[in-house]
Amino acid sequence: MTTNTQDLHTSPAAPAPAKPPKRPDLSNRRLLIWVAGLVLAVAGYLIAKPFLPAPWQRPGTEILQPVAALGAVLLLAPFLFSLGKRGGHSQIPNRLFILHVGASLAGMFLVSLHAAAAFSGPPLVLVACLALLAVTGVVARVYLAPRMAATFGRKSAPFQAGDPALKAKLRALIDAKTALLARLDPQASEALFSPTLRHFLTTPLKSLAYARLARKEARLMGARQSVSWLQAWWRPLHMALAWLFLAGLILHVVLVTFFAGYVADGRDIYWWHLAAW
Ligand code: HEM
Repeated sequence: MTTNTQDLHTSPAAPAPAKPPKRPDLSNRRLLIWVAGLVLAVAGYLIAKPFLPAPWQRPGTEILQPVAALGAVLLLAPFLFSLGKRGGHSQIPNRLFILHVGASLAGMFLVSLHAAAAFSGPPLVLVACLALLAVTGVVARVYLAPRMAATFGRKSAPFQAGDPALKAKLRALIDAKTALLARLDPQASEALFSPTLRHFLTTPLKSLAYARLARKEARLMGARQSVSWLQAWWRPLHMALAWLFLAGLILHVVLVTFFAGYVADGRDIYWWHLAAW
């Protein structure tokens, strides 16, 4: 009687191993096609706009104001995806990333229709933020991601130099992280752990202390200095732009909704609003 080696690993009664979830991928090619599609659609709209009827000529009309509101909701989706990721709710991170990109591009198209109706005034800062968000996102994905992968396979400077004082400091830091982690999340491993939203909500002080130690460790390792400035800074830049955009959007919506009189500055208030302060 012959025995297959696989029989040694799987008994007939054992349940079939769970299939890993399928990871959808957004290739660079498809990403660039989507972005080019957005640019072409906006250009087509700008060419057609002079021939469109009156509701397409001012940003606050009965068509373009709801279009802006829908676009803004789509543009807020990436913030929710980011919370989902930090909350540890994403089993398939790529799917969240693809939704983040798709919702942002669709939102950008809709708010472009709105903003192009009067390409003027302080809300243009929002348009600039959106354009820079798209540029930094695409550069990160198409140009920086392959370089980032190569960085992870490299030995960091402190380990190469063998400076004993630096190594002792790092050892002490890692010991402090390990001791804190035993109280913060006893199941987690120091090498892989970073606090999620759940940790910040349930044990904020310990989570903040842990994040501070992790930042100190990154500084000692010279993590930012060991890569190109673009690789080191694109993410803080992308996130700062996103927060600036969010603050500007809230201000814009509050102003046109409640301070319509101030925005109109003597013109008629032709858009939907709740107060004309
Ligand atoms: C990313 C989102 C947005 C961008 C980039 C944007 C951009 C702009 C721009 C450039 C203007 C012209 C300002 C001027 O002529 O001085 C404007 C006006 C306006 N926006 Fe937005 N907007 C956005 C979202 C929204 C949303 C969500 C609403 C919904 C409440 C809204 C309501 C208005 C109204 C009512 C006006 C007309 C104000 C006027 O005619 O003076 N916008 N917006």
